[in-house]
Amino acid sequence: MAEARRRIVVTGGTSGIGLELVRRLADRHDILVAGRRADTDALPVLPEGVRYVHAPLTDPEAATQAIAEAMLKAGWVKLDNLVLNAGTGFAVEGGIESAAQIRETLAVNLTASVLLARALFPWLEKAGGTLTLVGSVAHTGQGLFPAYAASKAGLHGLARALRAEWSGRVAVQIVHPGPTRTEMHAKAGHDPGRLRDIFIPADRMAAMLEGAIAARRSPVTLSFGRYWTGRAAWSGKL
Ligand SMILES: NC(=O)c1ccc[n+]([C@@H]2O[C@H](COP(=O)([O-])OP(=O)(O)OC[C@H]3O[C@@H](n4cnc5c(N)ncnc54)[C@H](OP(=O)(O)O)[C@@H]3O)[C@@H](O)[C@H]2O)c1
Repeated sequence: MAEARRRIVVTGGTSGIGLELVRRLADRHDILVAGRRADTDALPVLPEGVRYVHAPLTDPEAATQAIAEAMLKAGWVKLDNLVLNAGTGFAVEGGIESAAQIRETLAVNLTASVLLARALFPWLEKAGGTLTLVGSVAHTGQGLFPAYAASKAGLHGLARALRAEWSGRVAVQIVHPGPTRTEMHAKAGHDPGRLRDIFIPADRMAAMLEGAIAARRSPVTLSFGRYWTGRAAWSGKL
């Protein structure tokens, strides 16, 4: 039986894990990517047919409004899956970020996620959809990135709260990737050195993420274990 076409919003879908997920889904589903890049920089990297909205999450309220408007413009009255994948962080000596870095990390990773989840709940409810929060194994604490770790721990708590609150109406899941070979570390000012070679490739992480979304389980850790045992290859499809 042919699978149903789904309407999916992906934040941070212009690079790394988000872009690989979009590439996997674009020919089977309707996708709206939200990102911080201008349209002229974003559209060339996205697969044909994928919609894009410029919505920098450093201003969570404006971004939420822009994304809601883009959905209305596309004629979407319901949403099957909201994938809050965008993330940022800053690696600093001694683990003490500046106030500006802390504000940006919490705004992008946490505040925007809370606002978007709240604002798009009615769309998700109409579809009996799924909210997917992309956390990190760092949510248990990581010395080099304390505000980043705190933001991901906050997402974990948000997922638990919304799972209880939205039970039976919208599925809520948090997915915690392990170290993945993307440009995120370089953007954060961190060089993992030769360790990077053993990080999970972004396309394999996206495959595991797709499987976790299809299974609607939570919390899920997407780790080396799952990757090396081949679970990336046979996990479910959205
Ligand atoms: N890589 C890892 O080892 C790892 C491990 C655990 C969890 N994660 C999580 O996985 C998710 C994806 O990360 P990734 O590794 O794929 O890194 P990435 O390639 O840097 O992707 C992050 C995405 O977030 C976007 N973004 C950053 N700041 C933004 C802002 N202010 N407004 C809107 N969008 C913004 C980026 O936009 P641009 O494309 O314009 O840069 C990019 O599309 C993140 O939530 C990250 O915390 C990653």
